[in-house]
Amino acid sequence: MGAMSRVRTILVTGCSSGIGRHCALRLKDDGWRVFATARAETDLAALRGEGFEALHLDYADTASIHAAFNEVLAATGGRLDALFNNGAYGQPGAVEDLTGEVLRAQFEANFFGWHELTRLVVPVMRKQEVEPGWGQLNWGRGRIVHCSSILGFVPFRWRGAYNASKFALEGLFLTQRMELRGSGIHMSLIEPGPIVSRFTENGLQKFLDNIDIEGSVHARRYEKELARLKAKGGVNRFRLGPEAVYKKLGHALEAPRPRAQYPVTIPSHFMARIRGITPQFLMDRLLLGSD
Ligand SMILES: NC(=O)c1ccc[n+]([C@@H]2O[C@H](COP(=O)([O-])OP(=O)(O)OC[C@H]3O[C@@H](n4cnc5c(N)ncnc54)[C@H](OP(=O)(O)O)[C@@H]3O)[C@@H](O)[C@H]2O)c1
Repeated sequence: MGAMSRVRTILVTGCSSGIGRHCALRLKDDGWRVFATARAETDLAALRGEGFEALHLDYADTASIHAAFNEVLAATGGRLDALFNNGAYGQPGAVEDLTGEVLRAQFEANFFGWHELTRLVVPVMRKQEVEPGWGQLNWGRGRIVHCSSILGFVPFRWRGAYNASKFALEGLFLTQRMELRGSGIHMSLIEPGPIVSRFTENGLQKFLDNIDIEGSVHARRYEKELARLKAKGGVNRFRLGPEAVYKKLGHALEAPRPRAQYPVTIPSHFMARIRGITPQFLMDRLLLGSD
């Protein structure tokens, strides 16, 4: 089969809801062979029912990362065209209220697991022939896209654990992107601002499970924070649906020269523009608000 007609393969993590689920569905509609991962058996069954090749993968469980990766390679005859690292959660709580265990768990899911999977995928892509791609574009040996966040480059109160994990991703993968130069493997980071998904309610659960809310010196501030996390926000000018992320994912997967970073939403574009050129006291004023 010629390269032009071969169905391209992608592994997408965190497909039980939100961005991962939306992107997996859209990729399938756009003709990709999608390997979609989730953690709960019910989610895996639902994904299979929708025609996905669904695999169990928990970033906090190294064996599950290796098992899912091996299953993908067995199914494709040893190749993989693209990886979208997406599954993650946001642990709320002031930095002084985070136990080491809670912070480590955040990094296992949002950082070390992503590194582990990427480290498995890169050698496979390196061995693949260069694809001519569609039209005259040189598609390269593979594409790796990571779902970072506006909080991967802007600090935000009560989000220290999540901030740290996403800043770490930016540092690691912007470096690796440079190291992959000339290899035919393109690496990009998507940096969404607020996107409608289950992210906030999943974060709320982590807040309740892992932080001593009433015993904290920040107990009064946390009341506000709890109310914010409980509020169900829809799409508006500043908060978009997951299709906005898919648009950037499409560019990162298809463009001859994908970008290093893709801000999504007005807040993310705005902060990306002003970072580095705004004095710290103004940044503080902007990020701390009125209190
Ligand atoms: N929504 C936003 O405002 C926003 C903004 C910026 C960046 N992001 C990023 O976008 C990505 C997707 O989030 P979302 O908004 O779609 O939230 P979501 O609806 O909560 O979806 C998160 C997905 O990640 C999975 N996940 C959580 N922990 C995992 C682990 N240890 N191993 C593997 N998968 C895990 C969840 O699976 P389970 O159902 O099994 O928990 C779920 O499928 C994340 O990387 C997030 O940091 C989101």
